[in-house]
Amino acid sequence: MVLKNKNILVGVTGGIAAYKAAELVSTLRKMEANVRVIMTKSACEFITPVTFQTLSGFPVRHELFTDWSKNFIPHIENALWADAVAVVPATANIIGKIAHGIADDLLSTTIMACEAPVLIAPAMNEKMFKNPIVQGNIKKLKDLGYCFVEPAEGRLACGEVGKGRLAEIDAIIWYLEYVLSKKDYEGLRVLVTAGGTREPIDPVRFISNRSSGKTGYELAGALSMRGAEVVLISAPTNLKVPYGVDLINVETAREMYEACMESFDSVNMVIMCAAVADFEPADYSREKIKKDSGFEILKLKRTPDILSEMGRLKSQQFIIGFCAESQNLEENARRKLKEKNLDLIVANDITKDIFSSDTTSIIILDASNNKFKYDGISKKEAAHIILDAAIEKYRSSFEVK
Ligand code: CTP
Repeated sequence: MVLKNKNILVGVTGGIAAYKAAELVSTLRKMEANVRVIMTKSACEFITPVTFQTLSGFPVRHELFTDWSKNFIPHIENALWADAVAVVPATANIIGKIAHGIADDLLSTTIMACEAPVLIAPAMNEKMFKNPIVQGNIKKLKDLGYCFVEPAEGRLACGEVGKGRLAEIDAIIWYLEYVLSKKDYEGLRVLVTAGGTREPIDPVRFISNRSSGKTGYELAGALSMRGAEVVLISAPTNLKVPYGVDLINVETAREMYEACMESFDSVNMVIMCAAVADFEPADYSREKIKKDSGFEILKLKRTPDILSEMGRLKSQQFIIGFCAESQNLEENARRKLKEKNLDLIVANDITKDIFSSDTTSIIILDASNNKFKYDGISKKEAAHIILDAAIEKYRSSFEVK
């Protein structure tokens, strides 16, 4: 979403990981970004410009003194065009050149002329990466505001094992989205809960619900991208933890309650997206219950209502609840907003919303009777819409007072 229609200039330098930049360009194009590629002369030893030309749909250059016809000055034109630059992979040489203001080819002159954010993904031998000269150059560039995607540990092309492999492409994409995102949540610590809790009956069985956790994870990811410090308290899911998010794993409603209470005092905002079980088995059986044991009726007892407790305790916290209903959606959502002392509630009609799906329909309601309705949007879009509404309300409720 963030990268759609953005102009991304990919600089490819001469390392064995140069071929991985092809996947980056292809992924960026699938995300509807406009991509141009500049290669260094050494990069052309590892992969041909034709590959990038085909993937980006734009001619690939590596020489400084070509195409100067009709007042087209390639390094200036590219520098002005780019919304962000990604140097992938970045060798020790290009890092050293940028750090010392050396501009002697198309990529280094373009970066020197560019005011857009520059993301650098180093990839090299571990000893080269650890070299104090390289580390000094990286530190200097970080201090100047250049953004780095740390290389990963693993087996390197030279046969050694260590830190120096190019970061995963999805990590590079995440950082690109990060540098291009507004940072309207900077300075805020936000607690997000996600997933459906599991209430054990015996060592092999539990009661749970159909929540996939997707909306909660999208919210945590979007918050981290928008500059928040994020604590994600999650019941079991199959989802990948978003970058930059502190994850606390829990299983039951009681564990989620304990974890939420522990974080509550330190946060500015709570987004209670988890599908918390309202009931747990009254008696847990330590042994597996046998089918011939005469066990036919499962006795249940209530779990703590975490959101109500937070609504009761709140001081500086802005609290957002969710409401899943199969009937009287708005009426129930308004009642929960009031009864649980919330600032905002997001209502979901579960007859329209399929739990495992990537799309959703939501209604956002606030205590001043405002109502915003969105149908058939992706859960990623929903996350950003909820955050837009929340930050506006948060700033007007807490900062103007
Ligand atoms: N919630 C909670 N603790 C519970 C149950 C729910 O914190 N034990 C939170 C949910 O995370 C959600 C909100 O309360 O943000 C509303 O949850 P929902 O299941 O829609 O409603 P309930 O309050 O459980 O009421 P009911 O099941 O009767 O609709």
